[in-house]
Amino acid sequence: MTTVEITKNRDAHVAQLNREIKEMAKKRNAVILAHNYQIGEIQDIADFVGDSLGLSQQAAKTEAEIIVFCGVHFMAETAAILCPDKRVLIPDLEAGCSLAASIDIHQLRAWKQEHPDAVVVSYVNTTAEIKAESDYCCTSGNALKIVQSIPEDKEILFLPDQFLGSWCKKMTGRTNMHIWMGECHVHAAIPPSKIDQMTEEHPKAELLIHPECGCLTPYLDRVVRSQGTTDNLKVTSTEGMIRRASESQASEFVVATEIGILHRLKKENPEKTFYPIDTEMSCQFMKMITLEKLHNSLKEDVFHVTVSDDIRAKAKLSIDRMISIF
Ligand code: 13P
Ligand code: SF4
Repeated sequence: MTTVEITKNRDAHVAQLNREIKEMAKKRNAVILAHNYQIGEIQDIADFVGDSLGLSQQAAKTEAEIIVFCGVHFMAETAAILCPDKRVLIPDLEAGCSLAASIDIHQLRAWKQEHPDAVVVSYVNTTAEIKAESDYCCTSGNALKIVQSIPEDKEILFLPDQFLGSWCKKMTGRTNMHIWMGECHVHAAIPPSKIDQMTEEHPKAELLIHPECGCLTPYLDRVVRSQGTTDNLKVTSTEGMIRRASESQASEFVVATEIGILHRLKKENPEKTFYPIDTEMSCQFMKMITLEKLHNSLKEDVFHVTVSDDIRAKAKLSIDRMISIF
């Protein structure tokens, strides 16, 4: 078969899958939510595409009976915590997160014992169990505001992402903030030298950096002086990148986060050019969700994501506190 024939076949297959997914979603009163890192085919069929914060807000307000979560497991769990009366499905149960796996409940309890008066702030990339042991949940879109809202004399335990934590610590100037040394294997792998290389190759480009990135460290002082945004650099969540790309006067951008976001950036800004900081910056967990698995999820009613009532009630408190501040 020629390449053209293979592409035509795939296009026809995708069109058929799309039709059937839409029909099933309508019939079952299901909403499809997708994270900004999902593959293009998933983003294109989703009812809503966004960052962790936007997706939890959508989950909280949807009137659909079923939420099909095209993202990773902790995101579907967050939807299950917020919507106990809805059926939350994830198309592949193996879609995990290295960052969420970087702290377990025993480690958190031991850490809390060392700092009994501290306020615990957990990034949304954590299990429901960890959220249930936390005072506040936060996302990359609101972590700074959450930290700023905590009285200055209160000690903070921030987990699990060391780079997001360091960024918040520097931005707020807090000295009583302890940071868990967890990391996302995708974002931590980018060395600062990659930024130097890409900005040299594209001198006119604006730099968009996700706060989970290890490459952010040498820029922290500059970022702090400019409170997060300079003419050619912005540290922000994935949704913040989407907003910035459309509002900025720049026509070229170097994007330091998972490559799935390029799909939406290009789609919504066809006149602008986006360069991934590294084309290898791909999260294998996010990429586990395919159109075929989404189709199967709706057809077979799998995989049901649930959280036990006691964990759910406690975890919800930390998410509600976050939502009330933001
Ligand atoms: P955002 O909340 O910025 O989308 O990032 C979440 C994340 O890292 C998922 O991997
Ligand atoms: Fe987790 Fe990193 Fe993948 Fe995001 S990109 S889901 S933080 S492993």
